[in-house]
Amino acid sequence: NHYTNLKKLAKINKYDDWEVPRYELVIMETEILGRGAFGMVNKGILKGRIPLLNFYPTMRLETKTDGACEVAVKRLPPYSDDSNRLDAFHEITFMKTLGFHPHVLCMLGCVSDPVDPIIIVEYCSNGDLLHYLRSHRSDFKDEITEANITSTRLDMKCLLSFAWQICDGLDYMSSKNFIHRDIAARNVLLTGSLVAKIGDFGLCRHTEDAQYTSKGGRLPFKWMAPEAITLYEFTIKTDVWAYAVLLHEIYTLGDTPYHNVQPADMSKYLLDGNRLEQPERCPDEIYSIMKDCWDSNPNKRPIFSEIRSCLAVMLHVND
Ligand code: ADE
Repeated sequence: NHYTNLKKLAKINKYDDWEVPRYELVIMETEILGRGAFGMVNKGILKGRIPLLNFYPTMRLETKTDGACEVAVKRLPPYSDDSNRLDAFHEITFMKTLGFHPHVLCMLGCVSDPVDPIIIVEYCSNGDLLHYLRSHRSDFKDEITEANITSTRLDMKCLLSFAWQICDGLDYMSSKNFIHRDIAARNVLLTGSLVAKIGDFGLCRHTEDAQYTSKGGRLPFKWMAPEAITLYEFTIKTDVWAYAVLLHEIYTLGDTPYHNVQPADMSKYLLDGNRLEQPERCPDEIYSIMKDCWDSNPNKRPIFSEIRSCLAVMLHVND
């Protein structure tokens, strides 16, 4: 039955503008970028036209001189069954509706093969934000200095810029009524020019499916609001909570939050009124945003557009 559905879906997708002929995609089997909920992520090269550019002709991608584009290729592991394949098709459908935003990891195209479905996304050569922060601890500059384009050092302005970009991406997702449910530094990717993109939509749901609960699976307790831990209730307000934990990761350069608390004890710890402390280099304005996001009453937490406005003032950019 699953297989019949798969064949139907593949047939419907075949003439869709998102489809890439399999021969235009070269998968670099030895360059493994990650292993996620979906399966494996490899680096690849897309030789032909990029479907996403049909929809967003003004979008700029970092292409190679011969026009080929470095991409990330998401595939299922070899031992997958038809139910996994159906999930992959659902992710493809989801990525099509997500559309394009500079701070969201977008689908560039897909291969709707019923047996081996492939999702092609943007390649981010600086990897994930958590590793990036941790690897720049020794050369971090705490004082704010004049902008120096040739410097590869991380400074306070970079941190603020990451915070703003991620907030901008989340505001876009919330405007489309998507709840991410796994916002954390490990799920933000950085391009070669340090553009931050929200990725890993394995747990993402449309708000209409917000009642969807995922008991059993591994849940990111340390990023979850109290009501998400106790009632498995995920809303845009639980995303706002997780975003503030991500801000804490940014301003500690990648410390594990609540490092002395066991994930299973998180619910009681939060209900007792405990919160993460202000990191040493975190400006008061940022810590004030974090505390607002960690209000035990979800309705009192700010929305992403409000947070973005505060960050824009601090960054001296127009909102
Ligand atoms: N790891 C997981 N996804 C990636 C991507 N799109 N680019 C680079 N590294 C990744």
